[in-house]
Parts: sequence; C-alpha cells; structure tokens
Amino acid sequence: MLQVTGDIQLAVHELIHGGVVGLPTETVYGLAGNALEATTVSKIFAIKNRPFFDPLIVHVANMEQVKRCSLSIPETLEKLMKVFWPGPLTVLLPKSDEIPDLVTSGLPDVAIRMPAHPMALALLNQLPFPLAAPSANPFGYVSPTTAQHVVDQLGNQLNVVLDGGACEVGIESTIVAWDCNSDKVQVLRLGGITVEQIEEVLQTQVEVKTSSSRPAAPGMLDQHYSPKKPLYLVENQNQIPADAGMYGVLSFNGQLKGPVSFELSTNGDLIEAASKLFAGLRYLDQQPISAMYLQLLPEEGLGRAMNDRIRRAVIKSSIH
Ligand code: TXA
Ligand code: MG
Repeated sequence: MLQVTGDIQLAVHELIHGGVVGLPTETVYGLAGNALEATTVSKIFAIKNRPFFDPLIVHVANMEQVKRCSLSIPETLEKLMKVFWPGPLTVLLPKSDEIPDLVTSGLPDVAIRMPAHPMALALLNQLPFPLAAPSANPFGYVSPTTAQHVVDQLGNQLNVVLDGGACEVGIESTIVAWDCNSDKVQVLRLGGITVEQIEEVLQTQVEVKTSSSRPAAPGMLDQHYSPKKPLYLVENQNQIPADAGMYGVLSFNGQLKGPVSFELSTNGDLIEAASKLFAGLRYLDQQPISAMYLQLLPEEGLGRAMNDRIRRAVIKSSIH
C-alpha cells in the first residue's frame, strides 16, 4: 500500500529492506534505492522502464560517502563541489569497487551529487549507504516536480513517496566532468547550476558538450523529456496556425496566448520559469487540447538548460 508521507522513518525502513522510494530533491523528484546493492538498483531500472545503458546518479550526504564511492577527486571538480554542494551539481569521478557496475552502466566514472533538499539530506544522514536515484518518471517522459507527479505515474509500483513539496529549482542538476587531456571542465548536461556560475568560480571557460544521440554518452538522449501531446516550437503568436483549434501554450513573459495557457513567469524571471517548466508541460499534457505551442527562452543562465530540455522534447514529439 502506497504511503505519501513526510515521515522520513518510513523511507528509512523501506530502503534498509531493499526497497525503492520517491524522494524529493531541490531539482526534481528521484526514485531512490541503495546505491551499493545491485538488486535494488535493478529494481529502479525496472520501475522506470529505463534501459540499462543509461547510468544513475548517486546521492550522498557528506564527503565520507563521496570517498567511499570514488577513487579520487580532481582538484578542479573539488573546487566546484565546495561552492555548489549541497546543490544541483553532479560530478563524474572514477568509481570505486563499492559501486555496482549497473549504477554506471559499466562506465569507469560514477556520477555523484549532494542534494540540497532538507528532507533528502535528512534521509541520507540516517542511512548507512548512498542512494542511486534517477528522476522519478517513466523513461523518456517529463521529470516530476511534486510528490503527486510521482504518485500519478509510478504510485502503483511504490510503497513510499516522501512528500517534500514542490521542487525549488525544477530542472535537473548540471553534470560536469574533468577532462584530463585538456585540463578543462566539461558540462555534459545543462541544469540547475548555470555555465556562467561555473565559469565565475573557475575563472575560465568550460566546454559544453551536451548533445548526444549515442545512448551510452552522458546523460542525454536527443529525444527526451517529452509530453505525449504534439509539441511545436514557434517564434511568436503569429506562427500558431489559425486553424489550430483547441491548443495549449506554454508562455514566458506573457508572450503566447491560447485557449489553454500556462505561464512560466509573467515578469521574465528565468529562475521562476525553470521551477515551473516540467509542471507546465505536464499540466498541458492533461488538458483537452490537440497540441501545445511554446517558444524558446532567452539563451542565458537557466534559459540554456530549459531550452536544452525543450529542444529534446520537441524532437521526440515530432517523431511520434
Ligand atoms: O537533478 C538530478 O540530477 C536528478 C535528481 C533526482 O537528483 N536526477 C536525474 O537523474 O536527473 P537522471 O537519471 O534522470 O539523469 C541522470 C543523467 C543520466 O541521463 C545519465 O546518463 C547521466 O546522468 N549519468 C549518470 N551517471 C553517469 C556516468 N557515470 N557517466 C555519464 N553520465 C552519467
Ligand atoms: Mg531523468
């Protein structure tokens, strides 16, 4: 029987016994299980219907756990961890033997982050192991930003969903790696920490390498994050066909109007918009409309991460 709860002890109990729980983080909700137990990790893949070639992020509460999971920490990444943890930054580190190969899909590096959500940290602090947790959505669909989103899609497969309210950041963590050849930091997934923030700390430019249709490549299938309804990019209101009928718009700064609309931010605030992006796509997907229209956001700060998600969602939608 599913319990949607604020009681961390219920999650501790479930996790200690090899179960998988819905977990709030500041980015999106995760589907969490013992990162050191391959059988638990395989349950996560099964519940999400996720292909085994797409590796999972390991969530930790402290540096001891990082050291347990990894062999070494490049200095440049350590600098970023010190500034942005706990928070929406994931680093790739050479994995230790404690991490089952299933977690990393056989890759030599493990993705690790320390989430900032107080409930996630409190839970991690009560567990004797770190938590592997992908976003708690069926593979390929929009990530969940409330406990209800998790319940709607995966509730029948879980006993516990911790309810920590709506996710503050609303978009997944930024994934970074250190390239020893170029001695540069590479951004493999745009996310809650902006490229500008990272460059400010490192006082140097980073490489952004986020596009990939190679499934084994970090993080990002070209088609991803998709609602089920067809999704079209427009530059302005005039590009929405006059005969579009019952359609929905995902609007920023009040720029698009439609029979059904969801506003990301009426005053052009990218942080507010990021926190509502997935909820907006999900809301429109459930309305009695035949298509949704949206615009790209300004290509700066969190706008870059949002545009990345939007482009992938549109590609998938046009393939349907
Ligand atoms: O904000 C987040 O990162 C959320 C919350 C729950 O922490 N998690 C999340 O997980 O977005 P997921 O599984 O939906 O996306 C993680 C991405 C995957 O697409 C995966 O390919 C990449 O991280 N990744 C994980 N481990 C990796 C590794 N060892 N090497 C390269 N990429 C990796
Ligand atoms: Mg995901």
